[in-house]
Amino acid sequence: MKFSMKVLVMLTAAMFLTSGLAIAGPEKDPLKARVPADKRAKAKKNKSPYGKKSKDASPEVIAEGKAIFAGKGTCVNCHGPLGDGKGKAGAVLNPGPRDFTNCKFHKKRKEGELMWIIKNGSVGTGMVPTYSSNH
Ligand code: HEC
Repeated sequence: MKFSMKVLVMLTAAMFLTSGLAIAGPEKDPLKARVPADKRAKAKKNKSPYGKKSKDASPEVIAEGKAIFAGKGTCVNCHGPLGDGKGKAGAVLNPGPRDFTNCKFHKKRKEGELMWIIKNGSVGTGMVPTYSSNH
């Protein structure tokens, strides 16, 4: 398996486990799908190799994902240390960064969709592609 795939899965695992109560930022309808319609079915089929679901990932994998989230991935700048979308850089963005503590949002998304957005970005927003395929 390619390294990029591992990184994406670790990040997804870390996000699923991020918890805490927070008021959502100025997000644009987080329940609406972000992966373009013609790519969505394929993205949804992309499953975690670490377990049936990302939340089954080992503590080591989750710790590694968190380190990337707060470190070289720079995710923390926009999504905030708690993953609630309240990062300092995210405050100036419109639409605002996703609040990963929103359970309703997670219920609407397959982890493969999250991985697709992490890799390709969400068009027209501050969520730019963060990992190219040759990472
Ligand atoms: C420059 C600010 C910024 C950075 C850095 C950033 N994001 Fe985002 N992110 C956003 C914004 C803004 C959105 C909301 C996009 C939208 O509404 O379509 C978002 C949305 C998302 C989503 C939700 C996708 C969906 O289906 O709704 C995921 C997952 C995500 N980001 C993961 C990450 C990860 C992981 C990193 C680090 C590798 C990261 N982001 C770095 C700004 C950022």
